[in-house]
Amino acid sequence: VRILFRDVVVLSSHLDGVWRGDVLVEDGRIQRMEKGICEEVHRVIQGDGDYLIPGFVQTHIHLCQTLFRGLAEDLPLLDWLEKKVLLFESKHTPDTIRASAKLGLCELMLGGTTTFMSMETVRYTDVVLEEVSRSKLRGFVGKAIMDRQVGNAPLFEDTEKAIKETVDLIERWDKQGKLRYAIAPRFVPSVKHDTWLEIFKIAEHYDVFIHTHSSENRDEIKLVEELTGKRNVEYFDSMGILTDRMKIAHCVWVDEQEIEMLRSSGAGVLHCPSSNFKLGSGIAPVVEMLREGLNLSIGADGASCNNNLDVFCEMRLAGLAQKVRKGADALPVKEIFRMATLGGAEVLGIADEIGTVEVGKRADLVLLGVKDVFTTPDTANPYARVVYSAGRGNVRIVMVDGEIVVEEGRCLVYDIDEVIRDANSACSSLVE
Ligand code: GUN
Ligand code: ZN
Repeated sequence: VRILFRDVVVLSSHLDGVWRGDVLVEDGRIQRMEKGICEEVHRVIQGDGDYLIPGFVQTHIHLCQTLFRGLAEDLPLLDWLEKKVLLFESKHTPDTIRASAKLGLCELMLGGTTTFMSMETVRYTDVVLEEVSRSKLRGFVGKAIMDRQVGNAPLFEDTEKAIKETVDLIERWDKQGKLRYAIAPRFVPSVKHDTWLEIFKIAEHYDVFIHTHSSENRDEIKLVEELTGKRNVEYFDSMGILTDRMKIAHCVWVDEQEIEMLRSSGAGVLHCPSSNFKLGSGIAPVVEMLREGLNLSIGADGASCNNNLDVFCEMRLAGLAQKVRKGADALPVKEIFRMATLGGAEVLGIADEIGTVEVGKRADLVLLGVKDVFTTPDTANPYARVVYSAGRGNVRIVMVDGEIVVEEGRCLVYDIDEVIRDANSACSSLVE
């Protein structure tokens, strides 16, 4: 199939500014970028100067938590987990988790996210993987490993069962189509020492990532110090598991030594500004981490602590937070745009395939309409228009691997009315 985007303005981290012309997509890849392509195609999409950008990459979300949107308000991390989120997760059934995943996947694609990494819960990850594969998005997904109880939280399981189920899921789902498995030990307090070592061996054997949370909140760090005698990153390093395989959400409270450990290991940092604000966790030292050359990317975290999966919100807040800390010139728009596109692709090890709009790459693309009141005037810095003025309402077309999944703001994969109905009824049954 050949699709032509006619007269689009391309924004992409590898460009100095922007490029205007026609973009031809063929068999899932960007085939040509020229001015005035007149080949015969199956479909022409008129850009008329609208923006063609790489599909957004969100490296940290929880599809299973979409259903908990607005149900766990005004609590700090450990209470939020113990009293609400782990309790809710323990009540999931295959039906409620499917409704949650579908709702999250719709939200992601309607908002221009084409690739994501998601940590699921202890049970029913098969159901989520089924939906991710149906959604056509590019997903890195894994079951949460929790073999140590956190406080009085009801959700934990036997080590042997957790490992066996993880290996079984990897063997059945990893590298199937656009799906990749990512092993997901939840965070230090919920995973036993020897289990981390076992997980690392499995990750090496199957060549998959380890996706975890760390250094999010000061009480969590205190708890980790009590349990291990070390700070989070220091603990990972001491076990010899801190490598470029580790993808670590938050990193809000990392000291200089830990930043250096993250740098020298090549680990990926998954920055979640809205979640860090909403749980009152703090502001991550993004400027310092970027200065040290760390691999940074962006994610919304779960809808239970955000309460959106909106990459535009994350980009905006990522910028504003650093300006408050370090001054107005702290984090330029182009750098923020990069974190949400190419930076995410680099963290996920697929920057040779996605993350920019370049000939030869997979066609994961978003066409943003920029002729509305909110993004006018059109003489503005185009990257500033995307990062600080545009929103999900500007998303016209979303394409993954050359296939259109959102068309003029309409989801082509799911029946949205049904997704909303199912989510509402699943949520009522879960709350009961
Ligand atoms: N730490 C451990 N689990 C979680 C989670 O589900 N969300 C967040 N934000 N932090 C966590
Ligand atoms: Zn999270």
